[in-house]
Amino acid sequence: MLKNKQILIIISGGIAAFKALEVIRLLKKEGAGVRAILTKGGAEFITPLSVSSLTEDKVYTELFSLTDEAEMGHIRLSRQADLVLVLPATANLIERMARGVADDLASTTLLATDKTVMVCPAMNVEMWEKPATQRNIETLRKDGAILVGPEAGLMACGEEGLGRLAEPLDIMEAIKSFFGSAGKPLAGKKIIVTAGPTHEPIDPVRYIANRSSGKQGYALAEALQKLGASVALISGPTSLKAPDGVNITRVETAEEMLNACQQELPAKGFVSVAAVADWRAVETATEKLKKQGDDTTKLSLKQNPDILKTISQMADGRPELVVGFAAETENLIANAQKKLISKGCDWVVANDVKIDDTGGSVMGGDENTISIITSDGIDAWSKASKIAVAQKLARKISEYLGVNRDK
Ligand code: C5P
Repeated sequence: MLKNKQILIIISGGIAAFKALEVIRLLKKEGAGVRAILTKGGAEFITPLSVSSLTEDKVYTELFSLTDEAEMGHIRLSRQADLVLVLPATANLIERMARGVADDLASTTLLATDKTVMVCPAMNVEMWEKPATQRNIETLRKDGAILVGPEAGLMACGEEGLGRLAEPLDIMEAIKSFFGSAGKPLAGKKIIVTAGPTHEPIDPVRYIANRSSGKQGYALAEALQKLGASVALISGPTSLKAPDGVNITRVETAEEMLNACQQELPAKGFVSVAAVADWRAVETATEKLKKQGDDTTKLSLKQNPDILKTISQMADGRPELVVGFAAETENLIANAQKKLISKGCDWVVANDVKIDDTGGSVMGGDENTISIITSDGIDAWSKASKIAVAQKLARKISEYLGVNRDK
């Protein structure tokens, strides 16, 4: 199953380093090619000779080695792998990965790689549970790393708890399932999807909102996840259950939604399906507003931040593909084309939200008729269920990101 797969294993300095030898042996047995980087700390626990005997290759240790850089170079080392495995990942290496430090061969390779990184932490229970380590782990997860372990059990230091390296056989399972996702072209790619309405409070009991159900956004999140993407779904208030395997953050207001999206960056794709409220109350009353004598009353509103535009026009770190939705009741295509330009996104998915002849509407309904507007033209799709639309759109996104990546 792992034939022709190339694994780069980075062994850092922890007592669990000896288990890396077993994983290398198992990988070779499955037909994988293995290259190894041994950090200075790692070499305190196992010798380059034992690693090299198992990988049947030289062991890479120095960033500034003339011969190594001439023969292979850290960039090629990171690029020629199909998967980078950090095993064991010490608290120290995890912290440096989270910060993007590049001061030795291991950290530089990790920063230079364009491949998925699988991190297998191993450390003392107190070190693992420290908020600092947990913050770093969260950063790695958000950056798209796959985490395997740690497990609970007795440690070399005599203490017990979470922190033991995952068992070699479990690590092998995780590696196989990563490669088994051949039908998952979006594996290792992170995509942020916004969905649902936003609620903008007027007072403690009232809010401004719209009729969005969140169905289209949730269906897209699920379809992208099934193609292997790591999906961050930022959802306004809905009654929908989060699709399995999708990472959901629930928010109320447009400002919270923007914040949550920015927290999830960087990402390869950003798809803005949410029907964000355009306005919010200038002031939110802390007590329930009372009826006044008059027939009419005034509410002062101010514009919400435009999340799509903000992400689309980021100077640094803009996702490769930014997709907006345009829900219109008239002049659908013309308005969507204007939106493509004014927001600066790559595609606009235009959908007609006019109440149709049967009295049905896209908002809240189960079907959708969409056209994809790009700078190349218009691609009109026939009416389909929101699930089918989501699946087709997910495939189109996957093709775009695949082509783009190979450029
Ligand atoms: O400007 P309009 O609301 O018609 O644009 C629709 C698109 O912009 C949708 O993709 C929606 O998610 C996004 N949007 C946004 N933030 C807003 C308003 C709309 O991200 N404040």
